[in-house]
Amino acid sequence: MKVDGKNYRTVWLEGHTVCLIEQNLLPFEFKIFRAEKYRETCRVISTMIVRGAGAIGATAGYAMAQAFIEHGTDTDAVNKARHEIENTRPTAQNLFYAVERVFRAGQASIEQAISEAETIAYEDADACERIGELGNELIKDGFNIETHCNAGWLAFVDFGSALSPIYAAHRSGKKVFVYADETRPRGQGARLTAWELKNENVPHVIIPDNAGAHLMSLGKIDMVIVGSDRIAANGDVANKIGTLEKAITAKYYGIPFYVAAPTSTIDFDCATGKDIPIEQRHQDEVLYQSGPNQQGMLETVLISSPGSAAINPAFDVTPAELVTAIITEKGIFKPTDLAILNG
Ligand code: MRU
Repeated sequence: MKVDGKNYRTVWLEGHTVCLIEQNLLPFEFKIFRAEKYRETCRVISTMIVRGAGAIGATAGYAMAQAFIEHGTDTDAVNKARHEIENTRPTAQNLFYAVERVFRAGQASIEQAISEAETIAYEDADACERIGELGNELIKDGFNIETHCNAGWLAFVDFGSALSPIYAAHRSGKKVFVYADETRPRGQGARLTAWELKNENVPHVIIPDNAGAHLMSLGKIDMVIVGSDRIAANGDVANKIGTLEKAITAKYYGIPFYVAAPTSTIDFDCATGKDIPIEQRHQDEVLYQSGPNQQGMLETVLISSPGSAAINPAFDVTPAELVTAIITEKGIFKPTDLAILNG
């Protein structure tokens, strides 16, 4: 996707260095971060310099390749590195998918590990482009669409999942309007989705997380599209905290609720959503917020009652029965039909 007229991917490899758009600084500053060793790449994932299902996956694949570059045939060191990479973000299925593939390839050679990591990144971008083409068919001219968190190109290597059909619809000349949930506590909707939509000239507004039901009750939302961090075999969907409330409300008001995700996000080893590990993040993400001060310097301020604790579950699970369909690069499926894709 373009930033100031120049094409970017969210993450890419230069030599043995992983290069990424520094997402914690967006939308206030656009900067490229370079991680030269696998441990630094792990830190990039856990501190959310990179975030979003596919982008985490591609980055984890590159981290695994870096571990082979650093440790060669030292099996113990490579296994330890794999363990460290897998412990960075527990919910994102794409991370485990990518690490497994690169780990296997690395048994043959370092070159194979690098090449597999590159393949995963390219496949991610291709799958998301296809999701856009297929999802566009569900969007009618004039649709108002609500989305939660950021499942745009920043959450993948390119194009995105939930936003990809919206970009495709907009480019094909349809009038679309997006209601972007702000997505507390980290504000991926207010900061990243809004920034992406603005760059692509897609008409949109940011809404408070608790405004969705009100807008649905007024008939202002025609469809909801969200992404996913892990989909269980039975079609239950883990996505950013707050998604479940949108799905329940959409069902109540008879509004279609779509999930867009590449098939690499489906975890057939998780029978149901109950088997999906839910990441718990630090309470400070809830208690504090950051943004530029009047001098343009990023500052973090307390926005809660001093001394009160917070909890911070990063994801929730939407039961399959609330999901109208899942848009993948291989087609659009009822959540209960995912078994077709297994194997
Ligand atoms: O915690 P994050 O920002 O890595 O969460 C991932 C997400 O962006 C969302 O849950 C998204 O809707 C699915 S990932 C494309």
